[in-house]
Amino acid sequence: MFNFKEIFMEIGFIGLGAMGSRIAKNILIKRKKLNVYNRTREKLTSLVELGAIPFNSPKELAKNSDIIFLMLSNSEAVKEVLLGNDGCFYGAKKDTYFIDLSTIQPKVSKYIYTKAKEKGYHYLDSPVLGSIDRAEQATLTIIVGGDKEDFDFIWPYLKDIGNSIHYIGESGSGSKLKLIVNSMFAQFPLVLAESINIAQKSGLDLNIALNVFKETAFAPAIKYFEERVVKKDFSPRFKLELMLKDVSYAKELADDGGVKTLILDKVKEAYELAVKHGHTGKDYSAVSLIYG
Ligand SMILES: NC(=O)c1ccc[n+]([C@@H]2O[C@H](COP(=O)([O-])OP(=O)(O)OC[C@H]3O[C@@H](n4cnc5c(N)ncnc54)[C@H](OP(=O)(O)O)[C@@H]3O)[C@@H](O)[C@H]2O)c1
Repeated sequence: MFNFKEIFMEIGFIGLGAMGSRIAKNILIKRKKLNVYNRTREKLTSLVELGAIPFNSPKELAKNSDIIFLMLSNSEAVKEVLLGNDGCFYGAKKDTYFIDLSTIQPKVSKYIYTKAKEKGYHYLDSPVLGSIDRAEQATLTIIVGGDKEDFDFIWPYLKDIGNSIHYIGESGSGSKLKLIVNSMFAQFPLVLAESINIAQKSGLDLNIALNVFKETAFAPAIKYFEERVVKKDFSPRFKLELMLKDVSYAKELADDGGVKTLILDKVKEAYELAVKHGHTGKDYSAVSLIYG
């Protein structure tokens, strides 16, 4: 049903990196108007050319926005943009909605949620599943933690950027689930790289082995990672250092819950080694290069 209130909502977007630039473009196309901020100003240009309104600080953007999306690297970035000297929480009006699409620590989501409540704001951890192509096509999966009535209010805006939207539970729940999903994804390039290494070094034909792998339950993952791990295309979609951040946060989540981890420990070690080997900036599938 058409919601009259939506016409008067000023929307802001902070963080125009690989994901944010694509998501923000979809919002601008759909809503015709968008306030934008990015720390590195050059990344504002293409959206401003399409009609977005640039701001000099998160605080200034917040003064002029009712709903603010964030798509930032990590917990520190989100804390700085919201709670720092020039942060949104020093400029936003009461009842501003913050939709945080970034992947951050659940305890930081919860902390910001509490700070937001104190100020009369609404904060939802709303991380996304899907990479740059799904961001571009507005077909992301969005998993949301926070107050249910806030989720119900912002749902139409999430529909602008995703096609599968889930309310997970109280504040921090979206962030928790996102880390668990990514700790599974982080394993695939390693699983494939290790398996093809064993196949090759034991004298098997790689192509025959790969064709047989594709007959197993892992087929979709093998098909996706073949281009990267086997053909070594590591052009970044999701950077290796961001995946290391996610598995580190996932390990912290497991430790906080007293959960024994074996696979996650090894996966984290592998990503740390890949960073040490200088693979920062490449796609996370470049973790496979640790096998030489
Ligand atoms: N790429 C993917 O496939 C994917 C998929 C799902 C979720 N994610 C998550 O989405 C988030 C963004 O990922 P991305 O791939 O778009 O990363 P990215 O291209 O590196 O973009 C990161 C953004 O965060 C900003 N930023 C970082 N630190 C900041 C700070 N201290 N103050 C202000 N701005 C800061 C960057 O600003 P500058 O331009 O100034 O550096 C940039 O706009 C991450 O949490 C990631 O885990 C990514």
